[in-house]
Amino acid sequence: MIIKVDQLKSGMVLQADLFTANGDLILAAGTILNEDFIERIDRLKIDNINVMDDQSTLRSKALVTSVNALDKAYHNAVDRFKEVYLVAKNGGKVDEEVIDEISTPIVEEILYNSSLMRELWAMTQYDDYTFDHSVSVSIISGLLAKWVGDSENLVKRATVAGLLHDIGKVAIPESLFNGDRQLTSEEAELVKTHPLKGYDLLKAQSNLSDHVLQAVLHHHEQYDGAGYPHGLKGEAISPLTRIVSIANVYVNLTKARKASESVNPYTASEKIRELSYQLLDPHYTSVFIDGISNFFVGNVVKLSNGLVGEVVLINRSRSSRPLVKTEDDFIDLSVRKDIDIVSIIY
Ligand SMILES: [Fe+2]
Repeated sequence: MIIKVDQLKSGMVLQADLFTANGDLILAAGTILNEDFIERIDRLKIDNINVMDDQSTLRSKALVTSVNALDKAYHNAVDRFKEVYLVAKNGGKVDEEVIDEISTPIVEEILYNSSLMRELWAMTQYDDYTFDHSVSVSIISGLLAKWVGDSENLVKRATVAGLLHDIGKVAIPESLFNGDRQLTSEEAELVKTHPLKGYDLLKAQSNLSDHVLQAVLHHHEQYDGAGYPHGLKGEAISPLTRIVSIANVYVNLTKARKASESVNPYTASEKIRELSYQLLDPHYTSVFIDGISNFFVGNVVKLSNGLVGEVVLINRSRSSRPLVKTEDDFIDLSVRKDIDIVSIIY
């Protein structure tokens, strides 16, 4: 809604980006205004300003509050997993009790937080890539296990398998995972041993279930049989492994090592669909895309034409280009290929 600048109050949320007369961005859409911001806007001598209506403001603030809570729990899981990883790197034991302490709150989020995936996307990215990646894969694996219809027990298993899937990297020089240079073929082969190294390490040191060990060993197998280390195909790859593989691909897409290469969840789910049959199990990818769509319908997004709108419909075969409702129009991005989603506001 458009209001006069003198009607602005702390707590209101900007509906659209705010620019100076020269086109410099002052405040981004989604910013929650405080007295400082209002004073800054006042100095610009703008007449009208576009802020969210009360309902959208409440939703936006609720997301900020719950993201802060998840952020804390997530950061804690990343820190604790880092300790587990470093102990293993120094030849120590992977302590199952600690794994249980890390994964139990994650399972609770999965079972009871109805906006988990949306919050996960809204969170800031961390620097400790390996640990951040593992915790994200853990959460997404558990979520997918829930959507597939697994019992709470299997959600827990998926969460643990997701957390530990790359633990074998402790046995490989870290520099080979930075992605900042082309690896020699020997180095690439060495990197490919991390699933087996992880399996051996966990099998020798822990009483983790065989399901979890298999998922660690086979998380780079492909549905079409072109993966490693054993070239397993289709149903020969365990269900838990197929779940972790999808989570791993999704996290790689949405939280790439280089942040600039990350894509939004709409684009990621379309890519996941494209990778069905070849890389990923088609039944589970379909469940995954349905699950994601439920989270990301209703999001307020910023479009490349400068407008802000709400995603009202996701076409499952073209999930990167949903139908968006702006203040006074519907924009079907599958038709308007000249317009893209620039960011998700909330
Ligand atoms: Fe891996």
